[in-house]
Amino acid sequence: MKAKHQGELTFGTIEPFTGLKRALNMKRSEIIVEISASRMRGRGGAGFPTGTKWNLAAAAISDKKFVVCNADEGEPGTFKDRVILQEFPDLVFDGMTIAGKAIGARRGILYLRAEYTYLLAHLESVLQKRREQGFLGNTIDGHDDFSFDISIRMGSGAYICGEETALIESMEGFRGEPRNRPPYPVDTGFYNNPTVVNNVETFAWAASILTKGADWFNQVGTDKSTGFKLFSISGDVDRPGVYEFPLGITVEELLKEVGGVNAKAVQIGGASGHCIPASQFQRTVAFEDVSTGGSIIVFGPHRDMLEVADNFLDFFVEESCGQCTPCRVGNVKLLEGVKMLRDGNCSMTYLKELIQLGETMQTSSKCGLGQSSPNAFLSIVEHFKSEIMGRVNF
Ligand SMILES: Cc1cc2nc3c(=O)[nH]c(=O)nc-3n(C[C@H](O)[C@H](O)[C@H](O)COP(=O)(O)O)c2cc1C
Ligand code: SF4
Repeated sequence: MKAKHQGELTFGTIEPFTGLKRALNMKRSEIIVEISASRMRGRGGAGFPTGTKWNLAAAAISDKKFVVCNADEGEPGTFKDRVILQEFPDLVFDGMTIAGKAIGARRGILYLRAEYTYLLAHLESVLQKRREQGFLGNTIDGHDDFSFDISIRMGSGAYICGEETALIESMEGFRGEPRNRPPYPVDTGFYNNPTVVNNVETFAWAASILTKGADWFNQVGTDKSTGFKLFSISGDVDRPGVYEFPLGITVEELLKEVGGVNAKAVQIGGASGHCIPASQFQRTVAFEDVSTGGSIIVFGPHRDMLEVADNFLDFFVEESCGQCTPCRVGNVKLLEGVKMLRDGNCSMTYLKELIQLGETMQTSSKCGLGQSSPNAFLSIVEHFKSEIMGRVNF
């Protein structure tokens, strides 16, 4: 299985505007059928089927609908969307415009993370050029029945604003706090209008699928996780960077490609993902096994796994929006517990309570942040028992 490194990505072989031009000559329902037939699942992490999402938004009855590109990319260890925005912005805007036609929206918004402000001028100039070429604005490419334009909204540096409902709150000018779901954005999104929120990579693949066809995409990967996926690979590897692999690659194969064969653990899915020990490197990176929005952090044999847990929990204490108690208080207590373990001050009884606390947070937190923030701690305690038990004060 050959890895594609930055510079050789499939996106570089897709001619911009080709998929869009094809979609402009299709019926709305035909576009959704093509995306559904590809069986693509969203590339932002949760893996929701893109065709289903677009279909729900298309079916919603409203004269105002929105397409939002989630370019918040705040998950620690993720940097693939930055590369896509920098190198293939036309594919992302093609995908947004295709989604606009499919669901019946006239407006798209790219929500760009604050740390990517340096990309703003570049992206604005690409948008302006598209307007001059007739691919944004009124009657797209001469099609009287379809007008669509895209604007850019800046984030302010909060990780929680990557969660789609917090992102919408932030775009409306409120604090970035997640909403209760349901209702979902496809139904009640931006200013309560039906809104499709997709990841940067999802839109670029949507444009690629319209260019090359659903079969080209769904013949790669596994039955439940079709297609190619971009990964941001960092940590203790010889060749870190952005890579493309078919979904379903094993962790072992992936480590071989990036020069990380001596790894003792791999954090898949960023700080909120799972820590996989060497004994499980045969597992596959796919939605049905170990899923990820693209962040892969590799830990070499010398790493202290409690330091890893400490680092991630410190991030979540900082980034919790504070709206619900399990997450607001739970992350602080887990972080304190990890520090006690590191100092040799944590008893076995208290360690068990910390594990129960983590499990409670997974089931009782309001949004994905608190539901997944204990993952790293829990998987490290489970898989690195000898390292942890040596630090417990019995
Ligand atoms: C705390 C949190 C942060 C998130 N950050 C991002 C992000 O930066 N980018 C992203 O695409 N999705 C992020 N998501 C997932 C989004 O809520 C949403 O599922 C995604 O944008 C949908 O796009 P997709 O279907 O194309 O994957 C985050 C979710 C949570 C709970
Ligand atoms: S889980 Fe955390 S981030 Fe999500 S709503 Fe609750 S406090 Fe906010």
